[in-house]
Amino acid sequence: MKIVSTIAGLRAQDRDRRRPRVLVPTMGALHAGHVSLIRLARQHAGPEGEVAVSIFVNPLQFEPGADFERYPRPEKADEEVCRAEGVDLLFRPSPNEMYGEDRSTLVEETVLSERLCGASRPGHFHGVCTVVTKLFHLLEPEAAVFGEKDFQQLAVVRRMVRDLDFVIKIIAAPIVRDPDGLAMSSRNQYLNPEERAQAPVIRRALLAAAQSQEKPAAAVLARVRGTIESAPLARIDYAEIVGADDLQPRLTIEPRTLLAVAVFFGRTRLIDNILLA
Ligand code: PAF
Repeated sequence: MKIVSTIAGLRAQDRDRRRPRVLVPTMGALHAGHVSLIRLARQHAGPEGEVAVSIFVNPLQFEPGADFERYPRPEKADEEVCRAEGVDLLFRPSPNEMYGEDRSTLVEETVLSERLCGASRPGHFHGVCTVVTKLFHLLEPEAAVFGEKDFQQLAVVRRMVRDLDFVIKIIAAPIVRDPDGLAMSSRNQYLNPEERAQAPVIRRALLAAAQSQEKPAAAVLARVRGTIESAPLARIDYAEIVGADDLQPRLTIEPRTLLAVAVFFGRTRLIDNILLA
């Protein structure tokens, strides 16, 4: 596995363009969810292709006061995961390498980014779009894998790729869960034992909604809120029913309707989603 931490180092590489490259962009603290993204990347790259993983805790996508400083950075363990998974290239730049002090260019998607996580985390998706654009330019992959847990991120990246004419296939990877249903996230390690014990309420609420035959979105949302709020440590940031493609609110459950939630346990904000139809 090649490990590169500078842009000059990437450019100096003698890349074999006949080998398709599939990129898995991450912020590190790799867990079984990331491993599933890496394996999906390998499937798409084929045995002859190249799987590239980037690890970069992107300061631009953390709003002021968020967890940028305390975000886990287990460098050695991450490197081991990548080696064990047969990753060909690990790109692990520093913040200074990625952003000059006087940088003044942002990539903004302005419609899908507005609601849901975009409403609670202003500027977050501009940070995501900017770093993903840079990673696409630097690594020039044929395809890139994004997890469906960050459903809105996936939609925003797809839109950006379409609007800016990137010739990069975006591959969606299903959510990976702990046995009790909690969606895997690097942030789960912030939860104390009590919070961790209550967090699977999110999945229970989403599953109950998907199984109910109710059509009015307001009724479904009321149930979801009730279930989540039955966990004493849960505080709902948002619970919304939207179209899975346009991310705009829906009043009734129809085909391709998404239920998306963000819930705080203490200072830790967890997100999850489910297709209702
Ligand atoms: O999903 C993530 O880990 C990040 O948002 C991403 C796509 C790596 C951009 O920093």
